[in-house]
Amino acid sequence: MHTTSHPIEVRNMRFNLETDVPKHWHGGGRGVTLFFDNLSTLFPEGERFFIASIRAHLSEVTDAELRTAVRLFCGQEAMHGREHERMNAMINAHGYPAHELEARLVKLLGFVQKTLPKRWQLAATCALEHYTALLGDLLLGNPEILADAHPEMRRLWNWHAAEESEHKSVAFDVYRAAGGNTPERAFVMVVATVVFWAVLAEQQVRLMHADGIATSPKEWIKLGRFMFGEPARLQRLAGPLLDYFRPSFHPTDHGSVALVEAWRQGHLAAAA
Ligand SMILES: [Fe+2]
Ligand SMILES: [Fe+2]
Repeated sequence: MHTTSHPIEVRNMRFNLETDVPKHWHGGGRGVTLFFDNLSTLFPEGERFFIASIRAHLSEVTDAELRTAVRLFCGQEAMHGREHERMNAMINAHGYPAHELEARLVKLLGFVQKTLPKRWQLAATCALEHYTALLGDLLLGNPEILADAHPEMRRLWNWHAAEESEHKSVAFDVYRAAGGNTPERAFVMVVATVVFWAVLAEQQVRLMHADGIATSPKEWIKLGRFMFGEPARLQRLAGPLLDYFRPSFHPTDHGSVALVEAWRQGHLAAAA
């Protein structure tokens, strides 16, 4: 059995979001700020969904170490949810429809919880946790992505990135303990990918519309360059995403322990 590559630690972080952070907090452009804001609106409800889908299978987890990891996973995701809820209140106060987007997500996830079998819901969590782990590694490994961000935002996103990497195996290991199989999780990954990118694209348009830039080719080109040119080059996630379909795939096959360790050292030094 694979074990978690990093010890999972619940860190009760609190960011100064009320006064400090400007509306366009990422210097890479308004569209770039809004792409991160966009992701943020998905986290509180999304992560509550992850926690619920894992807890629904807790009776099938007999391994004591994995049960501990589940408890720490829930603790980390609860902290992420709390801080992103605060961030979303800030986004809303900046004049964007963050609360409206959150309410729409509540409806979508409510529908999923009512209609899909419990283990498919857990498979969806595994699929999306692969995304968050890859995006987290991308952020930690490419500090240029947040170089032009407000320092408090950089701190929040790096913290979330590191913890996503720390707990990336938990949902997957619970899914295996619950008797999950490759065809099922592969199918759910395809559906989750379509829904995830469709929701992100639609929300991006809505947020840019609220900023009056939804029809600005200049802003879209700037965002496209940021995402698919330097610094993000999101297309490099294609390989690791496809690897999810390999029957012997495990989340620990990806990412770098050293990157998370470097973040942890920086975090400890800053706290000292
Ligand atoms: Fe999270
Ligand atoms: Fe997570």
